[in-house]
Amino acid sequence: MSADRPVFPEIDPDEVSSNPSGNRLFTDVVASRMSRRAALRGGTAAAAGFLVLGTATGTHGATAAEAGGEGTDSAKSDKGGKGGRGLLGFAPVGTHDRDELTVPEGYETQVLIPWGTPIRPSGPAWKKDASNTAAEQAEQVGMNHDGMHFFPLGYGRKGNERGMLVLNHEYIDQQLLFPDGPDEMTRQKVDKALAAHGVSAVEIARNRAGVWEVSESRRARKVTGTTPVAFSGPVSVNHPELRSDNEPMGTLNNCSNGVTPWGTYLTCEENWNGYFGTEDKTWEPTESQKRYGVSNSGFGYRWHLADPRFDVAVNGKELNRFGWIVEIDPMNPRAKPVKRTALGRIKHEGCAATESRGRVVAYTGDDQDGDYIYKFVGKGSWRMRRAMGQSPLDHGTLHVARFDDDGSGTWLPLVFGEGPLTAENGWQDQADVLIRTREAADAVGATRMDRPEWIAVNPKNKDVYATLTNGQGWEGKGNPRTPNPYGHIIRWREKHGDNTATTFNWDIFLLAGDPAYDDAVELDETNILGSPDGLSFDADGRLWIQTDISNSSQNVPEKGYDNIGNNAMLTADPRTGEIRRFLVGPRGAEITGMAITPDQRTMFVNVQHPGEASAAWGKPTPADPRAVSNWPDFDPEGRPRSATVAIRRTDGGKIGA
Ligand code: FEO
Ligand code: CA
Ligand code: CA
Ligand code: CA
Repeated sequence: MSADRPVFPEIDPDEVSSNPSGNRLFTDVVASRMSRRAALRGGTAAAAGFLVLGTATGTHGATAAEAGGEGTDSAKSDKGGKGGRGLLGFAPVGTHDRDELTVPEGYETQVLIPWGTPIRPSGPAWKKDASNTAAEQAEQVGMNHDGMHFFPLGYGRKGNERGMLVLNHEYIDQQLLFPDGPDEMTRQKVDKALAAHGVSAVEIARNRAGVWEVSESRRARKVTGTTPVAFSGPVSVNHPELRSDNEPMGTLNNCSNGVTPWGTYLTCEENWNGYFGTEDKTWEPTESQKRYGVSNSGFGYRWHLADPRFDVAVNGKELNRFGWIVEIDPMNPRAKPVKRTALGRIKHEGCAATESRGRVVAYTGDDQDGDYIYKFVGKGSWRMRRAMGQSPLDHGTLHVARFDDDGSGTWLPLVFGEGPLTAENGWQDQADVLIRTREAADAVGATRMDRPEWIAVNPKNKDVYATLTNGQGWEGKGNPRTPNPYGHIIRWREKHGDNTATTFNWDIFLLAGDPAYDDAVELDETNILGSPDGLSFDADGRLWIQTDISNSSQNVPEKGYDNIGNNAMLTADPRTGEIRRFLVGPRGAEITGMAITPDQRTMFVNVQHPGEASAAWGKPTPADPRAVSNWPDFDPEGRPRSATVAIRRTDGGKIGA
C-alpha cells in the first residue's frame, strides 16, 4: 500500500467523524433517557439493562410506550406470537478463529461465484495468479461481495430453483487484485480495479443433483465503475456542480442494497470519497468536501496517479456524481442504471425500501461515526406514478431522524425553503440541498449516530431495525458505552405503524459485545457478537444479523475481541429476544449480504474480503497472497476470494426454522 496508509488502518476511516456540527449525540440521548427512567422508577442508572428489550435473556423491560410519546399505539408488544414455538430451530454454532466457514449441524454449504467467476460460463476463465486483464474482469464477478438479492425467474416451484442473483462489490484489495500488488499504479490497474467494482447480475439455477450453477444467460450483466449512468430527480446531470471531463459513468463502493416494491434493485454508494486524491499540494478541500471526508490521499488507492478522473484538483466535481442510490433493472441488461437524486447524497450504507399506504418509503443510513439516519417518503401512490411513466423515487421528501430523550423521535424534512434551508442561509434550491445532504441534515438538527449501517423492516409489524456498528465514543461524555467498540441494534415503531409517519418511538433492541468486558451485555457463548452490520428479515420475521468486526480488532485481546472469534451471522427472534449464532466465517472476512429463495429453502450469504490484512494474522503480499486466508479454494498456488455461499438444510427444510 502507499506510504499514506498503513497496512491495516488503526481504525477504519468511517470510525473518524467528519461532522463538525454541535448536534446531539445519540449516545447522550441514550444516557439521558436511562437516567430519566431511573428517576421515574426511583432506581439508579446502573440498572442499565432495562432499556434493552429483547436480549438473549428475553428481558422485556419498558416498551417504547413508556416514553410517553405515543400512548397505546406503541404499547403493542413485539411479542406477537400466540404462545407457540419460537422461530429458531437449530443448534447454535460456536465461535472460532479458524480459516473455515461453519454452519449448524444439519446444514450444507456450497461456494458459488467467487471473485473472477465468468458471469456467463462461456466467459473468460479465472486465473489464480490474478493476471486476468481489465477487459476479462469486466466479464467476471467482481471483488468483495456485499449486499445481494435473489430475483426468481418463473412462478411457483420454478422460482425457487432459478433466478437472477444480483450483488454488490463494495471495494477491492489491491494486494490481491494485481499479480504484483499496487506499489506501481498504472492505468491498466485502475481499469481493472474499476471493472472489479459495481454490481454483478448472474443467472443461477439448481441442477438435477441439487447444485446451484451459473447459467448461460442474456440477462447477465456487470455494472462497473465505468458503465454509463443516468441521473434523475431534482439534481440534473447537467447541474454545474456535476460537470467533469468525462461522461457520467460508474458506481463505486456499492455496500448494501434494497429492492423496490416494483421489483428493481437498489445499490448504495458508500465510501466513494476514498478513491479520490491528488498530488497537487496547493489543493485544499472545500468545507463541503471536508464534510464528506475528501482529502489529498483518499484511502490510499492512488488511482489519481494514473487516471485524472480521480484527481480532485483536476476533476473535483466528479465527486458530486457519487454518494447516490442507484436503481438497476435486474432483468434488462440494456437498461441504464439511474442515480435517484431525491434520496440524497451521503455515504449510503443501504436502502431498506418498503410500502405504506400505497407510497414507497426508503430508509438509509450514512455510515460514518457521527452521521445520520434518513427516510425518503414518496409522494402519492407508487403505482400511479409508474402508470404515468414516472419514477416513484423521483418525487417525495427526504427526512433525517432526530431521536429524543423521552423515547420519541421526529423525521425532519430536508426541503429547500423550510426551516433553516433558505436562500438567506445560503441554500440555492432543492438540488443544492440534495448535493449537500449532510450539511442540510446538520442544519436541521439531526441526531449524530454511532455509524448507522443496515436497516431492515420487520414484515410482521413494520417495526424498523438499524445497526449502529460501533463508535469511537465521545470523550468526556456521560455515556455508558464510551467508547462503543461493539455496537448496538436500535429499533423504532412509526406512529400508528405507518412508515410514512413523521414521528416514531424508539428503543434499543440489542447491546452487542462480550459480557467478559462489559457487564451491560446480556449475551453468552451461543450468541456473543460485535460490530453488527448486515441486517435482514426473512418472510417469517427472523432477523438475520451479520457482523463486520474490522481487521484491526478481529480476535485482538487489546480490543476486547478475543472471545468473539471471526465474523459471523446470527439469527434473532424479535418476539422472544432469543438470538443464536448460525454461521462463522473464515479469517479476515466479514459476513454480509443475505438473499433467500421464495420457499426459504436456499439462503445466499456473502463472505467478503477473506485474507485481508489483519492485526491477528498479518498481511497478504504478492509473494504470499495466502498469508491470512486461502478460503475458499485452498489451492496452494491460489489466493483468497470473496464468494457467495448457498446454504441448504440436508432435510430440505426452511433455513433457520
Ligand atoms: Fe459498507 Fe458500512 O459497510
Ligand atoms: Ca457494511
Ligand atoms: Ca461495517
Ligand atoms: Ca467492512
